[in-house]
Amino acid sequence: MLTRTGSMRERLAMHNGNTLKIGVFGANCSSSRTATTVPERWSASWPDCLALARLADAAGIDFMLPIGRWKGYGGVTDFHGTTLETVTWACGLLASTERITVFGTVHAPLFHPLIAAKEFVTADHIGEGRFGLNIVAGWNEGEFEMFGVAQRDHEARYAFADEWVSVVKRAWSEPADFDFAGQFFQLRGVRAKPKPFGDSRPIIMNAGSSGTGQDFALRNCDAFFTATMASRASLDGTAKKVDEVKREAQQLGKDIDVYTIGQVICRPTQQEAEAYHRHANVEHADWGAIERMMALRGITPQNTKPEEYATKRQFFASNSVGGYPFVGTPDKIAEELANVSRAGVRGIAVSFVNYLDELPYFCAEVLPRLARMGLREA
Ligand SMILES: Cc1cc2nc3c(=O)[nH]c(=O)nc-3n(C[C@H](O)[C@H](O)[C@H](O)COP(=O)(O)O)c2cc1C
Repeated sequence: MLTRTGSMRERLAMHNGNTLKIGVFGANCSSSRTATTVPERWSASWPDCLALARLADAAGIDFMLPIGRWKGYGGVTDFHGTTLETVTWACGLLASTERITVFGTVHAPLFHPLIAAKEFVTADHIGEGRFGLNIVAGWNEGEFEMFGVAQRDHEARYAFADEWVSVVKRAWSEPADFDFAGQFFQLRGVRAKPKPFGDSRPIIMNAGSSGTGQDFALRNCDAFFTATMASRASLDGTAKKVDEVKREAQQLGKDIDVYTIGQVICRPTQQEAEAYHRHANVEHADWGAIERMMALRGITPQNTKPEEYATKRQFFASNSVGGYPFVGTPDKIAEELANVSRAGVRGIAVSFVNYLDELPYFCAEVLPRLARMGLREA
């Protein structure tokens, strides 16, 4: 085991000197980030997740980011119908790895903050400072109904999450007993020991796409995840977004890292990569699941013109339900990832149709190219 102090600086750097951080996204959910019927789609079984974590750890991948999902989206595959709970998943993976940071993704309204804070501390001790927290304020009505928890209106969701994270941070840091008197929580004589590993605290991230979500991240988080495009044409937009977020953070006297997400299909030739992208994402799309996800975002055939609906449906499938598709040769993908980094993005969480089949080629071919560009340690 490497010697780690667990300082905040080390945690934010994910314990290495890589300029562009690369993580795997969504491996705890069946089919991961691609709503596809292809038989090799991701199982999200524990043996597969464990094998992936060991592979990623040995290859120098920086982090694993799971999705907090409680109910599948339907379709013939019941997309995301089989999921492993993220904090317990992180504990198992942290115990079996040495370098990689593993996040837990938590819906604030579904967990009491003191139970959650202690779970995070436990995971953080298991990983010796490698646990990270992704806070979700909530957006998927059906999931909340299942718990008998009413979804608050959008503003109140983030006001609640603000208080929730304040309780968690105080439980992590206050040496003595404390009381908390808020709008949502009234807590007396709170005592929480041990504290996180190494006198610091886990990295906290959020991925709100609204202004309110972004403000929440600026106030409370170290990392802000946002969907961006990596094509040359859209890089200016990405750079502007990063600048805007960083400038607003500075106004609050803070610094924040901006991360993004994507799907990777990397093959020796461009033609092979594009053919597989078409095959998995479009020709074998799980359209029932895609339409349900669109409906959850308010896009239905009833409120959208037929041609526009068809275009959006195609876009959702092809963009892996909201992540730029990096499709191509190792050279092309390395160049696109370098462009993301040049736009100021600190890191990217990527998904694959099948991580165990595809990650080894990505690590063998793309990571050394990024190292030669000076973006990753060799
Ligand atoms: C990288 C990333 C990870 C996310 N993870 C989850 C998740 O695990 N579970 C979930 O319910 N929502 C997740 N979301 C949704 C966001 O937390 C957020 O609710 C959504 O982007 C809507 O933004 P808003 O709350 O500002 O309206 C994720 C979004 C992104 C971009």
